[in-house]
Amino acid sequence: MTGPGGGESPRVVIARDVLRAGVRRVADEIAAAHPDGVLLIAVLKGSVPFTADLIRSLTVPVEVDFLAISAYAPDSGRVRIVKDLDADIYGRAVVLVEDIVDTGLTLAYVRGELERRAPASLEVCTLLDRAPRRILPTPLRYVGFEIGDEFVLGYGLDFEERYRHLDHVVAGDVHALRSDPDVYAAHFFAG
Ligand code: IMP
Repeated sequence: MTGPGGGESPRVVIARDVLRAGVRRVADEIAAAHPDGVLLIAVLKGSVPFTADLIRSLTVPVEVDFLAISAYAPDSGRVRIVKDLDADIYGRAVVLVEDIVDTGLTLAYVRGELERRAPASLEVCTLLDRAPRRILPTPLRYVGFEIGDEFVLGYGLDFEERYRHLDHVVAGDVHALRSDPDVYAAHFFAG
């Protein structure tokens, strides 16, 4: 399909309303498990829109903090913290918020780092779970949506920093994006 400016229009994987309902359901699950409140730790940058909507849907006391990690070199599995937390999580009820769990390598690293700081509890919440590609299985306590083996964009998820702003999730053609990262731009931006 061709978009308004002539660019390709990507297929919608999770529409805005479905996304909203999923976020509310996850927020209800977190609230039910943490009636006394919870500390959400969002992994930058992809989980920012999800975390922002999550905290507005939570009906229990909530604090939020942020962690940034470097991208890992393909197949190395090596990442490091480039922005650490402000909060001391010792003895706290913590929920780690991810945008997508794919191979699980990032999550395994972050989880290990946080566990060393001895929180009272550490659960994982992810907007998207792409289980078919998992290399390191890690328990996911709260899952928004399970998706298949396709690259996705929007609602925080990017390709070279583009498309994070979308209020829904679309499938991206990785080959097309690699040859032109702005391949979908005409569909999402006026002018
Ligand atoms: P993992 O370490 O393989 O589980 O990858 C997790 C990270 O890779 C996510 O937090 C995203 O930043 C990125 N990622 C994985 N799949 C996608 C995708 O389909 N679109 C955009 N980013 C992705």
